[in-house]
Amino acid sequence: MDNVLITGGAGFVGSALAIGVKSNHPRTRVIALDNLKRRGSELNLPRLRDAGVDFVHGDIRNPGDLEGLGGVDLMLECSAEPSVLAGYGDSPGYVIDTNLGGTIHCLEFARKRGTAMIFLSTSRVYPMKALNQLNFVEDATRFSLAPEQTVAGVSENGISEDFPLAGPRSLYGATKLASELILEEYREAYGLRGLVNRCGVIAGPRQMGKVDQGVVALWAARHVYGGSLSYIGYGGAGKQVRDLLHIDDLLDLILYQMDRLEELDGETFNVGGGADISASLCELTDLCREISGNTIEIGSEAEDRPGDIRLYITDNARVTGRTGWRPKKDLRTIVQDTVSWLESNEAQLKPILGP
Ligand SMILES: NC(=O)c1ccc[n+]([C@@H]2O[C@H](COP(=O)([O-])OP(=O)(O)OC[C@H]3O[C@@H](n4cnc5c(N)ncnc54)[C@H](O)[C@@H]3O)[C@@H](O)[C@H]2O)c1
Repeated sequence: MDNVLITGGAGFVGSALAIGVKSNHPRTRVIALDNLKRRGSELNLPRLRDAGVDFVHGDIRNPGDLEGLGGVDLMLECSAEPSVLAGYGDSPGYVIDTNLGGTIHCLEFARKRGTAMIFLSTSRVYPMKALNQLNFVEDATRFSLAPEQTVAGVSENGISEDFPLAGPRSLYGATKLASELILEEYREAYGLRGLVNRCGVIAGPRQMGKVDQGVVALWAARHVYGGSLSYIGYGGAGKQVRDLLHIDDLLDLILYQMDRLEELDGETFNVGGGADISASLCELTDLCREISGNTIEIGSEAEDRPGDIRLYITDNARVTGRTGWRPKKDLRTIVQDTVSWLESNEAQLKPILGP
């Protein structure tokens, strides 16, 4: 592959993929395009440069910013407003224009050049109400999926691609699902090659965690730099659960997919840490306390936050069946790697991730 373009290439996921692709394919020109909207993304620019990645300051909302880029064999579409709260109580303009309008511009770019696309989608395409109505068990520290469920696409192993799609899912989730649908039409109408990864929570070093996005980095940063946190919703006891995928595991999957684009064309995969690599908020607190050596104040608000879900666990059966990939880095490694990054880069990161 001669040229790979990574949109959102200065972000948490995009920069890790850009640097990972470049180091695994040194002869490939890797271009990272980003508008640097996310605070902290600018810190990745020296890393990109040192790795030999070409950075372009551009915005996918402006087709002209993409046009000048020349031929590209593969686009990894990682640019987004990734907050599930985006648009709530505010204008939905940015989230729609970037996550849907911008992705359509990326697809147009790809159509004109015969570029393949790997689209970073989200588990948030699955509707909130349906997820919140699943049978669950409440243990001392977490909610878990109950063995008996009446809905398709769910088992104790988690949520599969067969989970029903009817119902609201947040503006973030809706713009991602709409983009998936348009991508499918581009495949059908124009022969575009593409595949979709619906990722659960991704975590690890260099995530610029904030209250509405990047929970592990937020939790770890508060423990390392101080400040307070709150368990919000579902009784306020911090029992809501997510599976967590180490960014290095995602990179491994993307590298595999890049090498097998023809074989995997048209696939949609749920991708995440799975049931074995998951944590509730209060379990995450315990691990952050242990690894950072610090204890901080954690408040409690019983009322649910809009757009929130009680639990989400990825069922990786399809992606593992098709690719053999499975996540390797466990929960402790995810938290340890994040805490080590925060401790080693305090001067740079505290102004962004501190209280
Ligand atoms: N982090 C997660 O837990 C997670 C989970 C599921 C899916 N995803 C998806 O992965 C992708 C990457 O997310 P991330 O965690 O790296 O988020 P991020 O915010 O760290 O990175 C996104 C990058 O896109 C850039 N960007 C935003 N709007 C842009 C625009 N209009 N034009 C160009 N660049 C723009 C931002 O500046 C940022 O650097 C997103 O598509 C997101 O939806 C992330």
